[in-house]
Amino acid sequence: MANKPGNTTMQIKALAVKKTGGLLEEYKFDVEPPKVHECLIKVLTCGICHSDLHMIDNDWGQSKYPLVPGHEVIGEVAEIGPQVTHLKVGDRVGVGWQRSSCLQCRDCLRGNENLCDENQGLIVTGPGGFADYLMVDSRFAFPIPKGIDSKIAGPLLCGGITVYAGLRNAGMSSGQEIGILGIGGLGHMAVQFAKKLGNRVTVFTTSQDKAEFAQKMGADEAIVVGKGEIPQAPSNKLDILLSTVPAALDWVPYIDFLDSDGALAFVGVPDAPLSIPLFPLLTKRRRIMASPIGGRAMINEMLSIAEKFGIEPIVEVFAIAQANEAMQKVRDNQVRYRAVLTVS
Ligand SMILES: NC(=O)c1ccc[n+]([C@@H]2O[C@H](COP(=O)([O-])OP(=O)(O)OC[C@H]3O[C@@H](n4cnc5c(N)ncnc54)[C@H](OP(=O)(O)O)[C@@H]3O)[C@@H](O)[C@H]2O)c1
Ligand SMILES: [Zn+2]
Ligand SMILES: [Zn+2]
Repeated sequence: MANKPGNTTMQIKALAVKKTGGLLEEYKFDVEPPKVHECLIKVLTCGICHSDLHMIDNDWGQSKYPLVPGHEVIGEVAEIGPQVTHLKVGDRVGVGWQRSSCLQCRDCLRGNENLCDENQGLIVTGPGGFADYLMVDSRFAFPIPKGIDSKIAGPLLCGGITVYAGLRNAGMSSGQEIGILGIGGLGHMAVQFAKKLGNRVTVFTTSQDKAEFAQKMGADEAIVVGKGEIPQAPSNKLDILLSTVPAALDWVPYIDFLDSDGALAFVGVPDAPLSIPLFPLLTKRRRIMASPIGGRAMINEMLSIAEKFGIEPIVEVFAIAQANEAMQKVRDNQVRYRAVLTVS
C-alpha cells in the first residue's frame, strides 16, 4: 500500500488514544484519494487545545476511539479533489475544529457555518491532525497569510478564532473594558486581540507568573485569584468578560464586575451546569452568552488581523514523538502558553 499521495489508497500514520483517558499510541489507517471538494494535507505542525483533552477524556460524551486528536493543523496541500478550485498543491493552509457543514442552511448562508446543525467537528467525526496527512473538505482549509510562521499559526485556527469571534459576538469594538478569565492557550491570545484592537484589558488568573507576563502582553491590570477564593474587583466595570476556564467557578462575583449591559461570554467549557441568580443580571440588563469557534469569513478576518496587528501565539514546541509529554503538560496547566507538535 502506498504511503504517498497518488491515485491509490494511501496509509496514514497517526497517533491515537484507544480508550477513555488513554495515552497516545501509533495508529495507521487508510484513505481513498480526495473526492469532489476534499483535499489531502501534509501536516507540518499541530497545536494542542484543551478540547483535545476533553475529547480524550470523553468529557462531552461524544468521543469515538481510536481517537486521533489535533485540530490546530498547519500543512501543505498534497492532493485536491476534482472540484477544488481555490487551493492548489503546495499551498500552505490551516484547519481548525470544523471539518465541514451543509453550506446551504440559513446559518451557513449567513456566514455562520460554525452554527450549522450539520457541522462536523474534525476530531468528533474523523481523525485529526496528530498524523502525517489529514483529509478534509477543502472549504474548511484556510490559506495562511505569508507573515505568519507555521510554528505559531496552528493555535490561531481554533484558540485564536474562538476568542476573536467570542469577543466580537459579545460586542467588542475598541475603547472598551475587556476582562479575560484564564490565561491559557485561548486566554493569552484573547489578551492580544483585545489590547491590540484598542481596548483596556484586565486579566484574572490563578498563576502569579501569568499575571506578570499578561502585562508584558499588554494587559493593563492583572488580578491573581487563589483557587476557591473570591476575586478582587477590577478598577473599572467591564463591558465584556470572556471566560476561557475549563472548570466550574462561582460566577456570581464575576457578574458583579460587569457594567450595565455588560456580557459574560463563555468560550471555555465548565465541567458543571451554570447556577446563576437572575437579579444581578436583571437589575443591570447584563447578558450571559456562549460562543463556539467562528465561521469561515471570520476565520479569514481573524487571520488577516493577526498578521496586520502582530498577534502571535506564544508556543512551546514539541516533536510529535513527545506528544504524551506535551499532553500531560496541558493537563497540569504547565504550558506557556500553547503546546505545538512538529509533525514533519
Ligand atoms: N468555545 C469553543 O469553540 C472552544 C474552542 C476551543 C477551546 N474551548 C474550550 O476552552 C477552554 C480552554 O481551552 P485552552 O486550550 O485555552 O485551555 P488551557 O490552555 O488549559 O487554558 C485554560 C486556563 O484556564 C485556567 N484554569 C484551568 N483550570 C482552572 C480552574 N480549576 N480554576 C480556575 N482557572 C482554571 C488556567 O489559567 P490560569 O493559569 O491563568 O488560571 C488555564 O491555563 C476548554 O474548556 C476548551 O475546551 C472552547
Ligand atoms: Zn480547540
Ligand atoms: Zn448549514
